[in-house]
Amino acid sequence: MRRIGVLTSGGDAPGMNAAIRAVVRKAIYHGLEIIGIKRGYHGLIFGEYEKMYLGSVADIIHRGGTILRTARSPEFLEPEGRQRALQVIRESGIEGLIVIGGDGSFRGAVELEKLGVAVVGVPGTIDNDIACTDYTIGFDTAVNNVTDAINKVRDTATSHERVYVIEVMGRTSGYIALQAGLAGGAESILLPEIPYDLQEVMERMRRGVKRGKLHSIILVAEGAASAIEIAGEIKTHTHMDVRVTILGHLQRGGTPTAFDRMLASRLGAAAVDMLRSGNHGCMLGMVGGEIKSTAIEKALAMKKYFPEELYQLATILAI
Ligand code: F6P
Repeated sequence: MRRIGVLTSGGDAPGMNAAIRAVVRKAIYHGLEIIGIKRGYHGLIFGEYEKMYLGSVADIIHRGGTILRTARSPEFLEPEGRQRALQVIRESGIEGLIVIGGDGSFRGAVELEKLGVAVVGVPGTIDNDIACTDYTIGFDTAVNNVTDAINKVRDTATSHERVYVIEVMGRTSGYIALQAGLAGGAESILLPEIPYDLQEVMERMRRGVKRGKLHSIILVAEGAASAIEIAGEIKTHTHMDVRVTILGHLQRGGTPTAFDRMLASRLGAAAVDMLRSGNHGCMLGMVGGEIKSTAIEKALAMKKYFPEELYQLATILAI
């Protein structure tokens, strides 16, 4: 293999730049040419790519977002779009492709594999919803961003003795809410994975008020409920002073944590090694501290383990 490509696709995630840097530098270290494809599968279809050099990835390890840009490509969902992408891959001489993204991007990778393209996936999404890896790139930064936001909201919540309902991202996954809720000491956490009882949430709030708690923070995963609706219900039934904060895309930006940079550097470098050794059709993940590869199709078919015990712990600690 002489020339490989790299792209980022789907929602950006902090640490993607560190992964691109690792791919580019590891490839060049081994004498490979490396092509950066712009705007994910969109760029593959429309021929938006350029050769990358050591300097192309200078000064990016600490930056959020992705220098290659990203997109969600509707054209790539169609067979004609994928054929055009294949043509661009062949014309550009790319012999192996590294896809950094989430489950939608991995489904695209599977389609390219079916067309005979050698693809390796690197999991990059704040949602941490991909099986066969304990963590996806960007998740740790998002959890830290949310925890930081909880700290700030807590100051004003305490001052005004209010209830705050904070909505966080994660699509259908409650990972961000669970870990940030535990780290931020939220009174209640509503997750798509675990049925919740709003009466119990309100009972917990009332108990808190009785023993002198000055505020209540309810963390809601976007896949579980709408913070606005939950706040409405609480207001109707308790007459407490309730406010809503929807953190939105603030969660996805900012400098990646050291953990995400480490993870991204390890996975990016390992992806180059996979292609060099002739392995493809797989994704890389970190399992128990070790870098492991799994067939992408297998990983996509698996349900990610959800640590319910952390939810139990968070509930006990917020008694
Ligand atoms: O998958 C990452 C994610 O941030 C989800 O948590 C969220 O639901 C979605 O992307 C938002 O997508 P967009 O940036 O396209 O609005």
